Amino acid sequence: MGFSTIRLAQDGWSVEILDQTLLPHEFTSVRLTGMAEAAVAIRDMLVRGAPLIGATASYGMALAMRQDPSDANLQDAYDRLLETRPTAVNLRWALDDMMAILKDCPEESREATAYERAAAVVREDEAICLGIGQHGLALIREIHRKKGGTGPVNVLTHCNAGALATCGLGTATAPIYLAKADGIPIHVWVDETRPRNQGAALTAWELGRSGIDHSLIVDNAGGHLMQHGMVDLCIVGTDRTTATGDVCNKIGTYLKALAAQDNGVPFYVALPSTTIDWTVEDGVKEIPIEERAGEEVTRIRGLAEDGSVQTVTLPPLSTRAANYAFDVTPARMVSGLITERGVAPATREGLKALFPEQA
Ligand code: MRU
Repeated sequence: MGFSTIRLAQDGWSVEILDQTLLPHEFTSVRLTGMAEAAVAIRDMLVRGAPLIGATASYGMALAMRQDPSDANLQDAYDRLLETRPTAVNLRWALDDMMAILKDCPEESREATAYERAAAVVREDEAICLGIGQHGLALIREIHRKKGGTGPVNVLTHCNAGALATCGLGTATAPIYLAKADGIPIHVWVDETRPRNQGAALTAWELGRSGIDHSLIVDNAGGHLMQHGMVDLCIVGTDRTTATGDVCNKIGTYLKALAAQDNGVPFYVALPSTTIDWTVEDGVKEIPIEERAGEEVTRIRGLAEDGSVQTVTLPPLSTRAANYAFDVTPARMVSGLITERGVAPATREGLKALFPEQA
C-alpha cells in the first residue's frame, strides 16, 4: 500500500502510527511511547477501524509492560485501553488475547512476550485481510462474468474499511484491490460518511493512491444509485458481528442495507473473525452504541482556499447535535459475511460452519 498504519519505530520499542485525523491533507506519523499515548490515539481516533484499534491496543499493552510489568499495571493497562472505544470488539479480543498470554508469564519476560505477540497480531491481520480479499474477489469475478464482461463492476462502500483501518489490504477494500490486480474493471462509490467523513478523507485517499476508479457521493445518494442499477454490490466493514450474523458498523450502514434489499442489490459485509462477538445474539438489543461529541457533527475540517487546513462550524452556534456513531444491520439484510475462511451466510449455522472451534 506504500504506508504502514502501525509499526515498531527504528528504536525497536516505540510504536509509530499514521495520524488519521490529519488525512488526507497531511501525512504525519506519531510516535507512541507509553500505554497512555496508545489509549489517547485510539480514543481520539488517530487510529481507528476495528482491526487497527485491536493492533494498537496490543502494542499499548506491550508499552505498558515496558513501563511496569507488575500484575497491577497489567490490569490497569487492560482496563484503561478497554474503555477507549466501546463498539469495536477487536479491542476486547486483543486485550483478552494479551491478558491470557501475559498473566501466567513471569514479570521479567512480560515485555518481550507482549512485543512479540503485538507483532504477531499485526502479521495475522495482514494475512486475514488477504484471505478476505481472495474470497471477496470470487464474488466480484462472478458479477463481472454475469455482466458479460462489459463495463466496470460498481461497488458501494461506507466509511473506511480499508487498508487504513487494518494492518493489511483492508477488509471491504481487499477484494477491490485484488480485483484491480486481476484486471477486472472496477469502480467504487464512496459514501462520504458523515460526521467524520472517513469515506471522503480516508477511503478516497487510499483508493486514489492505488489507482482505483472511484466517485465520492453524499451519504444519501446510495438509494438513488441502486434504484437505477448503478450499484452491482455493496461491501462494508463491521465493528462487531453477532453470533447470529447481525452487523454493527458505522452509522448509515443500515440505511444502505435497506436500500440494497429493496433493489435486489447484494449486500456483503467483510470481516476478520476477530470482529465476531460470539457472546452476543441480538445486535440491536445488545450492542451498546458509541455516542460521540456533538462537535463532530457541527464542525467540519477541510482545506481552505488559501491552502491552510481549517475547521468551520456548520449550524447555528447554539444548535445541539446528537452523534450516534454506529448502527446495527439485522442479519436478514446481509447477503453474506466475507471472512478469512470463506463467505458465510449471515446466520449462526453459517458462522459456526466456518468457525467450528467457537461452537
Ligand atoms: O469510527 P471508526 O472510523 O473506527 O469506524 C470504522 C468502521 O466503521 C469500519 O467500517 C469498521 O471498523 C471496519 S474496519 C475494517
